[in-house]
Amino acid sequence: MAEFDSSKQYQEQEETFFDDGREIELLHFVYSKSDVESIRGSPTKVLAAIDEYARTKKYLMNVGEDKGRIVADLIAEVKPQVMVELGGYIGYSCILFGDAVRKAGGQRYFSLERNPEFAAVIASLVDLAGLSDIVKVVVGSSDVSIKRLHSSGSLKHIDLMFLDHYKPAYTTDLKLCEELGMITAGTVMAADNVITPGNPPYLEYVRSTVQQKKNANKANGTVNGVDNRFADKTAKQYAKREGEAKLDETRTGNPLLVYESNLVNSFEPTGVPDGIEITRCTGVEAN
Ligand SMILES: C[S@@+](CC[C@H](N)C(=O)[O-])C[C@H]1O[C@@H](n2cnc3c(N)ncnc32)[C@H](O)[C@@H]1O
Repeated sequence: MAEFDSSKQYQEQEETFFDDGREIELLHFVYSKSDVESIRGSPTKVLAAIDEYARTKKYLMNVGEDKGRIVADLIAEVKPQVMVELGGYIGYSCILFGDAVRKAGGQRYFSLERNPEFAAVIASLVDLAGLSDIVKVVVGSSDVSIKRLHSSGSLKHIDLMFLDHYKPAYTTDLKLCEELGMITAGTVMAADNVITPGNPPYLEYVRSTVQQKKNANKANGTVNGVDNRFADKTAKQYAKREGEAKLDETRTGNPLLVYESNLVNSFEPTGVPDGIEITRCTGVEAN
């Protein structure tokens, strides 16, 4: 089977958001495999089938093997009871990390995905992988879902959070979780794509001391409510399909939370250099 140039496809996706139905095509690809019954119940084999599609058919914006291993190792170390991912796409990270959480003795993996079609693909592949008992796919914009899960009592505390959705929403969603008391000493965040395409406001926030956060005034302006340090294509990545994001940039979070934050260098599945920022909440300072 002919391989295609994934780095060329990656550059193309930088220009436009996919709208060619590849996510549904992936489902047909996986379920029409002659050995689909031997895949059932095996997260590893479902991931291999997704990788095969992404390698031989069309690029998928999955976290990939390299960065996936970094987060899977983190799960084995942190042993989260409850893990949340922001941005599920077709379920690659959800299946990889949901399986790792189960192996580490965890109870729940929430996958928050705004696009209902993608969420349906996640749920279908999670079912095939035999992970429906631990994974809960939540459809909707992450901020709305976080608030609803919290007020319903389904999600009160986060042990580990993987941020991989709309880049300008990393900081506003983290601050929302802080304000709801979901982040405490021991909580860990892993944020993808902090090098490519980059996320200066998030890195600045999680690397700030309590004093710096208390003193912070908005040095940077916004364009249509989005921090102007984001490139236009990043700010508008999902606008065509999902409409403009409405971020609450007025959130202050809980500046008293103490973070230790470090970059782990890695690569996109396409070979493009990237990094995951791993942030550990080590305590809360007195006011
Ligand atoms: C890079 S993809 C996620 C890839 C996935 N984590 C993986 O590695 O397999 C980003 C996803 O975030 C979703 N998304 C964007 N903004 C969102 C939001 N505000 N809330 C929830 N999901 C969002 C997009 O629809 C897209 O599916």
